[in-house]
Amino acid sequence: MKILEAKNYHEMSSIAASMIIEKVRFKPDANLGLATGGTPIGLYQELIRDYRSNGTSYEKVCTYNLDEYVGIDSEDTNSYRYFMEENLFAYINVPESHIHIPDGTAEDLEAECNRYDLELSREKGIDIQILGIGSNGHIGFNEPGTSFSSHTHIIELAEITRKANARFFQRLEDVPTHAITMGIASILKAKQIILLVSGLDKAEVMKQLLTTDEVNEQLPASALKNHHNVTILADEEALSLIK
Ligand code: F6R
Repeated sequence: MKILEAKNYHEMSSIAASMIIEKVRFKPDANLGLATGGTPIGLYQELIRDYRSNGTSYEKVCTYNLDEYVGIDSEDTNSYRYFMEENLFAYINVPESHIHIPDGTAEDLEAECNRYDLELSREKGIDIQILGIGSNGHIGFNEPGTSFSSHTHIIELAEITRKANARFFQRLEDVPTHAITMGIASILKAKQIILLVSGLDKAEVMKQLLTTDEVNEQLPASALKNHHNVTILADEEALSLIK
């Protein structure tokens, strides 16, 4: 794993954006794996800024999101589909038909997981996967204890995850209890992975991840140590307990 330290959130976002922009320029039909949550918002803003000023085109790009809440419709402002529209898709020229996000309202959720896996496997693979990390070490919504051989599946969200994400909802009770997420094995198939980490809230989990060689299902992000091309792009605050 390569570790890149950024001064702050802004620098982390700009570096990540340059990596994506370079990939899309070099490979206009790149497949991008995308994340939601607070961490990648700055990256998406940088991509929008570059699209407006330099015209980097996403016309041939396909996007694959990591996860979606179960029971939340794509039109709902709390859905990850809506989040992506609001924070990125509405402002760049990625065609609607190239956007892939699991459907958390599918009647048969198991079938939806299989459908999403099939969609992922039909492609030549994700070129760059963007990840954030939960303070309990989750990647995607793969909570501690998730098998490293998992593909897209339904997960019960950990209480700490629901509490962290309650900031996007009116009340904690409104945060869904379950999500549909790409599994650890699906994530590790990406050719390149960039894990974005920012802020003091993530310092403890960074310490756990980076101060031992241990690879352990109780710390889902430790699975990244088994991948050949991972960059952890973290800011000073997130790395503050390591020095
Ligand atoms: C979101 C996702 C999650 C988040 C993680 C961190 O699609 O898969 O793993 O990346 O929960 O969230 P933030 O960035 O809000 O701290």
